[in-house]
Amino acid sequence: MNRRSKWSTRYSIYLLAIGSALGLGNLWRFPYVVGENGGGAFVLLYVFLALTVGLPIMIAELILGRFTGQSVVMAMNQIGKRSNSKMRHFGFLSVIVSLVVLSYYSVISGWVLHFITRFFIDSLAGRSVPDDSLQILLQNSVLQWALCSVHILVCLFVILKGIQQGIEKWLQIITPLFAVLMVVLIFRTLALPSTGQVLRFLFYPDFSKLTVFSLNQALAHVFFTLSLGFGTLVTYGSYIREDQHVPTAGFRVTMVDIVVSLAALLLVFPVAFQMAGRPLTDPSLVFQVLPSFFSSLQVGSIFGLGFFVCLYLAAFNASLGLFETVVSNIGDHFKNFGRKKAGWLAAGICLILSLIPAFSTQIMSFFEGENKGLIELMDSFLINGILPLVALGVCLIFSRGLTSAEKEKHFVDKQKFVSYTMYPQWLFALKWFAPGVILLGWILQVYGLLK
Ligand code: PHE
Repeated sequence: MNRRSKWSTRYSIYLLAIGSALGLGNLWRFPYVVGENGGGAFVLLYVFLALTVGLPIMIAELILGRFTGQSVVMAMNQIGKRSNSKMRHFGFLSVIVSLVVLSYYSVISGWVLHFITRFFIDSLAGRSVPDDSLQILLQNSVLQWALCSVHILVCLFVILKGIQQGIEKWLQIITPLFAVLMVVLIFRTLALPSTGQVLRFLFYPDFSKLTVFSLNQALAHVFFTLSLGFGTLVTYGSYIREDQHVPTAGFRVTMVDIVVSLAALLLVFPVAFQMAGRPLTDPSLVFQVLPSFFSSLQVGSIFGLGFFVCLYLAAFNASLGLFETVVSNIGDHFKNFGRKKAGWLAAGICLILSLIPAFSTQIMSFFEGENKGLIELMDSFLINGILPLVALGVCLIFSRGLTSAEKEKHFVDKQKFVSYTMYPQWLFALKWFAPGVILLGWILQVYGLLK
């Protein structure tokens, strides 16, 4: 067993895992994926899969990191060799996915920065933010890339300074603030006349609305929102303190993420129905309807500003997770590379890659197929196509690579009766249930695309 000491102190697992789980996935991605998949039945499927597939894999990834003391590429290699599994190379895929996702995640974080400045300036000037703010931004790729670069460089700064402990203090202030703001806003949005229609759409499961794509999309979103398959939790697992019980923490993190995702639906959907007259099915719609909604409120600019600042902080923490994955893997692989060089290398690649999504909204619009923008296509290919396969690799390598005694040692806490009773369920989920569901979802997706 290899203990990581370089670069890191021991962190609270909650801070790291919640910080990486909550982000644009909850507020930007989830609402439009739910909209595309017809509402209630999909939401139910998502919650079910988060608990039965996402949670077991989250625990496995954290244990993989803690056990090997390595980041995902080395960890998968080390454990995969034991069972001679070819899937051990999937760790490499995780890092590529993290890097590419970080590139468009940063572009969208840049959109959030844009709205922060707009609300700030317009509230000072006593105006409301114009409805076409997003359109103006989308037509200005240079501005999009500039904002995205600011985001990447701020992340780099934090990663290089290693001031995560500073973030811990921030999080303690920001999290309750965000929660209060969300609750206040939800009360406001639920008072809109569209609420009845929205609640029916979101919570009345009409299974006929599900398509052949829904299973895979629900799973893929579970992986995205819980940061699974990216290697982030493997890296974080290698940093966590010895005294923490991984399964308990995994359960709490999953529950927090589910609650925030459901709250995000309650916030975004009434506004979408009200403003656009339909559910959200398009990734940029959140950025259209929410600002218009804030502008229509009394002291709306303050709400708007508060909301986008909190959203940015969530996106920022999540980006740190993606960034840290890439940096720690480069560091594990090239031992003589300092953290600084690894950080700059990751930032450089990301800055170049982000040119594609940033310019896609203006120059590269000819790439757009089936009314989908390039960002949506990239997201769909990586998250729906590649991520489930990586998650499958994690399940199989973990199940076959670790001995029963090793798994039990990390999972079972004799003081906690629940951990003892859940242990066989967890093993079953990783070995059979999750791989089976992932494969089924993926095959249905491919079938749907070829049909
Ligand atoms: N879970 C984050 C979100 O929901 C995205 C993310 C994925 C962050 C992987 C870190 C690592 O927005």
